[in-house]
Amino acid sequence: MSDATINIREMSEEDVEAILDIERETKGSHRSVTYAPVPDSCIGGEVGTSIVAEDDGRIIGFILARIVRSPIELSDVAWIELIGILPDYQGRGIGKRMVETWKDRCSQNGIKKVHIMINWRDWWLQSFFEPLGFSRGDLVDFQADL
Ligand SMILES: CC(C)(COP(=O)(O)OP(=O)(O)OC[C@H]1O[C@@H](n2cnc3c(N)ncnc32)[C@H](O)[C@@H]1OP(=O)(O)O)[C@@H](O)C(=O)NCCC(=O)NCCS
Repeated sequence: MSDATINIREMSEEDVEAILDIERETKGSHRSVTYAPVPDSCIGGEVGTSIVAEDDGRIIGFILARIVRSPIELSDVAWIELIGILPDYQGRGIGKRMVETWKDRCSQNGIKKVHIMINWRDWWLQSFFEPLGFSRGDLVDFQADL
C-alpha cells in the first residue's frame, strides 16, 4: 500500500525539532540502531542530502544523511545516519519512497555509492534495505573489550 498524499522534500534547519520528536517516538523497542555516529553538522545546519516526508505540512518521517569522502572508494559517498517514520505511518510504503528519493538525490549530486550501517541481527531492517538495492559491503566492525 502506498500513500500518495505524502510529500518528500529536502530537509531544512527548521525541521530539526520535528525530527527529534520522531526520533523520541521511535526509540526503545521500535527503534533499530544504525551505527554511524550522528554528525554535529546535521543538527547544526549542514543537512547535505537529508530529506523529510510530510503529510499536510506535518513532518512524519526523515532520512538524516551526510556526504563523506571515502578513503576506500576514493570518492564522495553518502551515509544514512538515521531513518525514522512516526509509528502510525510505518508499513505504508513511505520508508521505501523516502529511500528511493534519497538515492535519486545522491545520484544527482554525483554520488556513486550509498551506505548504511545496520545490526546483523536486525533481519527485518535488512529485509527493508535489500529490495532497495543495498547488500552487505566490505566494511566490518572490529572491536575489543577493555
Ligand atoms: C525502518 C522504517 C524507516 C521502514 O519504513 P516503513 O515506511 O515502515 O517501511 P515500508 O512500508 O516502506 O516497507 C518497505 C518494505 O520493507 C518491509 N518492512 C518494513 N518494515 C518491516 C518490518 N518491521 N518487518 C519486516 N519487513 C518490514 C515491508 O514489508 C515492505 O516490503 P514490501 O514492499 O514487499 O511490502 C520504519 O519502520 C521506522 O521508522 N522504524 C523505526 C525506526 C528505525 O528502526 N529505523 C531504522 C534504524 S535508524
